[in-house]
Amino acid sequence: MTGTSQERPVRIVCVAGARPNYMKIKPVMDALERRGAEVVLVHTGQHYDESMNGVFFTDLGIRPPDRFLGVGSGTHAEQTGRVMAAFEPLLAEIAPDAVVVVGDINSTVACALVTAKAGPLLAHVEAGLRSRDWTMPEEVNRVVTDRVSDYLLAPSPDAAGNLRAEGYRDDQIHVVGNVMIDSLLANLDRARGSGVLDRLGLAPGGYGLVTLHRPANVDDPEVLTGLLKALGEVAARCPLVLPVHPRAAGRLAELGVPDGVRLIPPAGYLDFIALQDSARIVLTDSGGVQEETTALGVPCVTLRDNTERPVTVEQGTNVLAGRDPERIVATAHTVLDDPPAPRRPELWDGHAGDRVADVLLDGLAAPANGRPRPTDLPARPR
Ligand code: UD1
Ligand code: UDP
Repeated sequence: MTGTSQERPVRIVCVAGARPNYMKIKPVMDALERRGAEVVLVHTGQHYDESMNGVFFTDLGIRPPDRFLGVGSGTHAEQTGRVMAAFEPLLAEIAPDAVVVVGDINSTVACALVTAKAGPLLAHVEAGLRSRDWTMPEEVNRVVTDRVSDYLLAPSPDAAGNLRAEGYRDDQIHVVGNVMIDSLLANLDRARGSGVLDRLGLAPGGYGLVTLHRPANVDDPEVLTGLLKALGEVAARCPLVLPVHPRAAGRLAELGVPDGVRLIPPAGYLDFIALQDSARIVLTDSGGVQEETTALGVPCVTLRDNTERPVTVEQGTNVLAGRDPERIVATAHTVLDDPPAPRRPELWDGHAGDRVADVLLDGLAAPANGRPRPTDLPARPR
């Protein structure tokens, strides 16, 4: 039973705004609706191109958003501010019992801040991830979102450990597993039938897959030039396919790419899962791709100095290579010669969305004074 004292179903706003949100929110929405909750899907409009947005609704079978904020692109302050200004009156109108935000994008922190001041319970799915790199905009978003959340839903024990170390209470922290892997496992067979390898003329195991979109990698032409040089050397051994994120498109066109590196438009969800699944190696700076390659058992070389997802290194197929071209090439050769053994972290089992829904609905069924509210201890992230 999911009814409240007002004799209506529990009403929960689920927020999505950009590419890495859709595959995280879908299993949560489904699990909540299976338990009788009324779900209102709010789309902030942070990503809007068909290839960054629409295709995911089709591929994942997500219904069209119930509300659309249409914020679009801008500076961090503009984008975050526009989401907040649009979300505040909407929240007052919808009057949900709880709001679920996922991940670490600007839309996540914006809706979290509004919710914290408006009163509904706030649940953060993917809580506790920390890169300890304050130059990453996502790190600021993660820390702030966790700080104002009632429910901290962590994908792995290391994330729960970070939260405990920052002073959060045990009654707020729940290790639920990885919702992104719910979507991956649910769609793997369909992805394998997507036909993308044939369309691109690729053979399974005959190519490497690359993604690049972190500001630290793609906004500075000098850094990007070094990364491209490294990719060119790896491509001499294993040809590379690079679906281009719109943030990197202009710079890549300006700089040009080395022989053996093939640029393609951003891939749809099913196509991209299939491309990962059949890749000999993946080189990436994406957060989600580190997790998906781990779940698929595909070798991953991460083009960053740190990761907020250390479980993919300790218990998965991920190797951190940093951004130094020589180190990247050496790491890629090592991985190609001796791929890491596939292992999947505990609770990355396809049922994380169910665990999120259980935690949230149990909490909402409890008397108001029995529900966790944000911790009183000041978190000290620095
Ligand atoms: C955002 C997230 C990042 C996430 C990434 C996933 C923040 C701070 N960053 O980064 O954490 O990993 O999404 O892909 O929230 N653009 C388009 N079409 C679109 C969307 C964006 O052309 O549909 C272009 C615009 O020029 C825009 C730029 O990409 O200015 C960056 O978009 P933005 O959403 O600000 O950040 P991302 O780099 O996509
Ligand atoms: N993805 C995709 N097409 C692409 C690149 C990524 O469908 O061309 C998917 C990928 O499978 C994963 C998610 O997008 O599910 C990761 O998003 P992204 O790398 O943009 O963001 P991050 O995870 O770094 O925040």
